[in-house]
Amino acid sequence: MFDDPASSPDTETKRLPLTGNHHKILLTGATGYIGGRLRRRLETESCELRCLARRPEALEPQVAPGTEVVRGDLLKPETLHAAMRGISTAYYLVHSMASGGDFTREDREAAQGFASAARAAGVERIVYLGGLGNEDALSDHLASRQEVGRILRESGVQTIELRASIIIGSGSLSFEMIRALVERLPVMVTPRWVRTLAQPIAAQDVIDYLIAALDAPPGRSLILEIGGADRASYGDIMAEYARQRGLHRVMIAVPVLTPRLSSLWLALVTPLYARVGRKLVESLRNETTVSDTTALEMFGIRPRGLAEAIRRALADEEHEFAERR
Ligand SMILES: NC(=O)c1ccc[n+]([C@@H]2O[C@H](COP(=O)([O-])OP(=O)(O)OC[C@H]3O[C@@H](n4cnc5c(N)ncnc54)[C@H](OP(=O)(O)O)[C@@H]3O)[C@@H](O)[C@H]2O)c1
Repeated sequence: MFDDPASSPDTETKRLPLTGNHHKILLTGATGYIGGRLRRRLETESCELRCLARRPEALEPQVAPGTEVVRGDLLKPETLHAAMRGISTAYYLVHSMASGGDFTREDREAAQGFASAARAAGVERIVYLGGLGNEDALSDHLASRQEVGRILRESGVQTIELRASIIIGSGSLSFEMIRALVERLPVMVTPRWVRTLAQPIAAQDVIDYLIAALDAPPGRSLILEIGGADRASYGDIMAEYARQRGLHRVMIAVPVLTPRLSSLWLALVTPLYARVGRKLVESLRNETTVSDTTALEMFGIRPRGLAEAIRRALADEEHEFAERR
């Protein structure tokens, strides 16, 4: 089933020296996919870690001894001041797409509350993971992700905004949508967006960049575009997934993605993924490739290509985690 079953997801994880004086780190989104992986990684580094969670009781049993968990909600600014106290770097790994409300408004308010609490507490750096996309007509989702970055920068606190396309890893929402479609549909009626170019990146490489952002030069805020070694269309990603799983899949292209077609697709994924997926589908028309290579030049990270990223995702022991969500 796997080309390289011996390859464990963690065996090649690069150790990036934390060279600066990082004091204390605040992590938001630690119950989420990226934040959860980053938490485990930070717990192996020599830094003091505080996690902010809406439901600390769900996170506390998972964290390492020494990791502090505090209750907080980015939509309740009064809960943020104590969480920010003494923090030098604050990670923003949160989005509101799973909420039933207006995610653009909620994400704007969350970013505003976070930005002003960080500024008031004298936080030195914010690290934010947002989304790639340079077109004028961005989807609501991608436009909102970029608005969050702008709000964080406008706080005056140095902000390192990493922008990524689809993240390949077991449990990542966009990867789980691809998995659900390819696993369950022998014949796929695919809309035009299967030809849209993305630059998928392995979750491990994203975590390396999030860690490396701690050592970015102090001073001005940066927008850093990050991507895997390959540019690939969504159709290419599905074809590579099918190839590695030994599945024969036929794709028949149609010119548009009708609401009916997309809702049939989303019915194949778990309820949480479907709720968020409904808001993500519109973004698939936007090209999400790297056009500025500053991140590659600034850090010694050489992200892997699509085939290797999928191989690792399939070998990932966290499959169970993905199934539980
Ligand atoms: N996954 C991808 O393919 C991908 C691609 C590009 C960029 N990104 C970016 O990566 C970041 C993390 O995404 P993810 O995939 O890890 O998301 P995720 O798994 O859905 O996690 C979202 C996290 O946000 C938290 N959260 C939501 N609203 C909150 C609030 N009001 N206050 C405090 N916490 C709140 C959730 O906590 P609860 O447990 O309390 O709900 C959860 O921990 C996002 O900025 C996203 O745009 C992801």
